[in-house]
Amino acid sequence: MRVSVFSTKPYDRSFLTAANESGEHDLVFLEPRLTPQTARLAEGSDAVCAFVNDDLSAPVLDQLAEVGVKVVALRAAGFNNVDVAAARRLNLTVVRVPEYSPHAVAEHTVGLILALNRRIHRAYNRVREHNFALTGLLGFDLHGRTVGIVGTGRIGVCVAQIMRGFGCRVLASDPQHNDAATAAGAEYVPLERLLAESDIVTLHCPLTPDTRHLIDNDRIKLLREGVMLINTGRGSLVDTRAVIDGLKSGQIGYLGLDVYEEETDLFFEDLSDRVLGDDEFARLTTFPNVLITGHQAFFTSDGLHSIATTTVANLAAVERAGPDGVTGPNRVC
Ligand code: NAI
Repeated sequence: MRVSVFSTKPYDRSFLTAANESGEHDLVFLEPRLTPQTARLAEGSDAVCAFVNDDLSAPVLDQLAEVGVKVVALRAAGFNNVDVAAARRLNLTVVRVPEYSPHAVAEHTVGLILALNRRIHRAYNRVREHNFALTGLLGFDLHGRTVGIVGTGRIGVCVAQIMRGFGCRVLASDPQHNDAATAAGAEYVPLERLLAESDIVTLHCPLTPDTRHLIDNDRIKLLREGVMLINTGRGSLVDTRAVIDGLKSGQIGYLGLDVYEEETDLFFEDLSDRVLGDDEFARLTTFPNVLITGHQAFFTSDGLHSIATTTVANLAAVERAGPDGVTGPNRVC
């Protein structure tokens, strides 16, 4: 199958090329993001391979279908960037990688918790300037604290297991209870109770119309004063403006983000020579108690290997057996 791979970075090229060692697919690596302006680069391809910030809205899908694309292979788990109804209307098959390394994301989440709590990001800079003062670096023991996990799927369960290992009490909120979370020691409670009782709240649910701005002004008021809020799910799970207000008032004591509402125009690129036009992002970077990473939680060699092999296998299965060659969670539509 001829596949136009959008948003290609050097690491995508090397892991996908290794996964396609047999040469089964003709992979055409393209650096641009998939947008209404770049969709026509896919002309002549049977499939496109897209990442989290590629635009798979109806106008883009219309163009892809027009130039003969039949398959969209996401090298990601989340598919909030796909207009699924439009894909169905156009008879496009959309496949994804539902699970590559929940450990990668869970471990990065815990990395943010540890770094924020013990101010490791600040200590690193201080020591490089031979400033060995401890004032401002005071942390708290995780042992005995309460962690609230919103979304107990693959990643949420891993976070629960790790935090239980630290001796934390773990509360969980999810419309679908998962036995693995209960087995890990999580206690399901309504979201409002989780927000009111947790010292750390971490988000692991998908972005859907229901979960957009799950953390908004009203919910921030329910949080414990000085709470640590972590979002490695999707940027729009939190209302950035409301979170900035929460940081200014002290209601939010720590914020760890791997995702950001308007990340599409920022993340995955080196913009260090440009003037930053996003005032909310700029404001976030001024807080000493905010730590932001640029959507790197998935970024381990294990994760990339798994994404590449599943993507190549998804494409092969559709090529051999048609759309029904891919079933279960790997098939979006
Ligand atoms: P999953 O599908 O295994 O679990 C998601 C869970 O969220 C499910 O149990 C579902 O019932 C629950 N959920 C849905 N609506 C909810 C709500 N309103 N409140 C509470 N829970 C709700 O997904 P997985 O693999 O655990 O991934 C979770 C999310 O993490 C993905 O949707 C994706 O957006 C994000 N992600 C971020 C990555 C990164 O690099 N930062 C990498 C991979 C995923």
